[in-house]
Amino acid sequence: MQMVSTIKEVKDLVKQWKSEDQTIGFVPTMGYLHEGHGSLISAARQDNSKVVVSIFVNPKQFGPTEDYDSYPHDLERDRSICENLGADLIFHPTPEEMYPNDFYTHVDMPILTEELCGLNRPGHFRGVCTVVNKLFNIVQPDHAYFGQKDAQQLAVIKQMVKDLSMNVEVIGCPIVREEDGLAKSSRNNYLSAEERKAARIVSKTIFMGENIVKEGETDAQKLIAAMKATIETEPMAKIEYVKAVDGLSMRQVSIIKPQTLVAIAVYIGKTRLIDNFIVE
Ligand code: PAJ
Repeated sequence: MQMVSTIKEVKDLVKQWKSEDQTIGFVPTMGYLHEGHGSLISAARQDNSKVVVSIFVNPKQFGPTEDYDSYPHDLERDRSICENLGADLIFHPTPEEMYPNDFYTHVDMPILTEELCGLNRPGHFRGVCTVVNKLFNIVQPDHAYFGQKDAQQLAVIKQMVKDLSMNVEVIGCPIVREEDGLAKSSRNNYLSAEERKAARIVSKTIFMGENIVKEGETDAQKLIAAMKATIETEPMAKIEYVKAVDGLSMRQVSIIKPQTLVAIAVYIGKTRLIDNFIVE
């Protein structure tokens, strides 16, 4: 496995691989890798002859009061995880390599970003679309792997690829969870022991919501009210949103049906946790 930090080095390798008819699977990440990221790397390993992982904490997708400066990192650990999972290349650029002083172009995504995380994190998806578009141009993957954990991000990237006729197939992968249900996240690391216990309410609410839908509830208001009431049983939890949206447009729906995305964002202390399920 190689690890490089310049765009040119990646492009040179990609050019060589393309000339050998290799297929390229790509997993973009911000590092501090866990089994959620690992599942994407394993899926890429299964489907492609070459696997590229990017590790880049993208400043453009963080708001001014968000955790850009404190985002966790451990490159040595990430490197051994990637190596063990059979990745061929890690691309680990500096912010200056990605965004020199004369960088001006951005990719905007309206509509799909009006609800959920887009509503509460202005500019976030502009930063995500811009960096993912740039990474796709550098790596030129055949397949790119994203987690269902960030359901709105997955929908936004699929829309961007379709709108801009990009030559990559975007593959969504299931949410990987801790034993007690909490969705794995690099940000779980911020939780104190007491907060970690309280954080169980997030996945508990998701599983409860799924059951309510399985039992036949189709009224989004009723489902949301029940989910909010569950979260409120945990004194350390503060609700940012509980919403049911169309799985493609991300617009709110009043009737629950197949492909509806039910998504929540909850603060436990200062840590923002997200989780979701898609109605079968
Ligand atoms: P990051 O938060 O590092 O996540 C990288 C990828 O791992 C995303 O596709 C995310 O959905 C997936 N992932 C995270 N936790 C997961 C879990 N528990 N189960 C399954 N997949 C999981 O998402 C980003 O980085 C950035 O926005 C990025 C796309 C790299 C652009 O900067």
